[in-house]
Amino acid sequence: MTLDSKLKKWLETTFSERVKFDEPMAKHTSLRVGGPTDAFVMVENKEELSELVRKALESDTKWLVIGAGTNLLVSDSGIQGIVVVLTKSLEELSTPDEDENTFLFKASAGLKIQTFCRLAAEKGARGMNFAIGIPGTVGGAIAMNAGTSLGSMEDVIETVTFLHPEKGIVELEKDELDFRYRELAIRHPIEDATDSLPIILEGGFRLAKGDPRTIKQEADQLLKKRWKNQPVSLPNAGCFFKNPSSTKPAGRLIDLAGLKGFQVGGAKISEKHANFFVNTGNASANDFLTLMETVRTTVFERFNIKLESEVKIAG
Ligand code: EPU
Repeated sequence: MTLDSKLKKWLETTFSERVKFDEPMAKHTSLRVGGPTDAFVMVENKEELSELVRKALESDTKWLVIGAGTNLLVSDSGIQGIVVVLTKSLEELSTPDEDENTFLFKASAGLKIQTFCRLAAEKGARGMNFAIGIPGTVGGAIAMNAGTSLGSMEDVIETVTFLHPEKGIVELEKDELDFRYRELAIRHPIEDATDSLPIILEGGFRLAKGDPRTIKQEADQLLKKRWKNQPVSLPNAGCFFKNPSSTKPAGRLIDLAGLKGFQVGGAKISEKHANFFVNTGNASANDFLTLMETVRTTVFERFNIKLESEVKIAG
């Protein structure tokens, strides 16, 4: 599909060098695969984002807001419509409000989750170390309730601010949100108007006060462990599948099925951690999709367990 010509003209005038047409998504995903999107737009503030969504709705064009592309597999045929990334004022961290025992940080959706972890630790705010080493942005991490065995986003989130296509900016409290394992839904009337989660603009994080040095030491240890157990130096998308349960982690099941090192084209199951798929250099999205299906079939035949992908598939 090509873009509506009026919309294309508007994008050119409004964003000039911040819009790229037919942009290969392989340049914007950590797996380094994915075909072109009609338009790739770098948005700098909420006003621009609202206007972009309004124009896209008017011309019946789809949009997809991405974080750092670290949990995303884009097909070789690419993504129709507009891909949006959040920059500038959408990557900020506020000076926190505080009471005797806690801080309340407001982190914008485009901020890297690792930057947030580091800045919170420097301030002496405890609670983000579960996320140490998780790549991606605050918005992406909220949308998928990212986490590890040490905790997940729902443990620290107090509010989430959304941009709803029709209702504008809406801040919801945690009890209006429905955090599940690696998923977020909304228990709120705004959900009725749309079939997907509205755009996440910001998270409010309640963190306990602690000692910056202790927090940093713990973070350093966790990072070392991650580097030891995970293939961090090769392009990957983190854990590929959700864990079916804590006693049956996907990595162990894939390993027991004898699939470590198994390869389709340039897509390979890591020798270090079987729930990581890596790009050995020249993989296509199709290689990863075929590898994913092979793993699912093999694990199902062997253990009668259906693995569900944690990585989002687009296009
Ligand atoms: N295991 C194997 N073989 C493997 C990999 C793992 O036998 O090839 C075994 C391990 O020995 C361990 C168990 O499986 O007994 C679980 O492995 P691990 O401790 O590595 O944790 P995980 O459940 O595979 C989770 C998160 C990761 C996070 C790590 C470390 C999920 C789906 N995954 O992995 O987070 O980094 O814990 O805290 O919750 C991500 O990085 O993308 C991610 C999702």
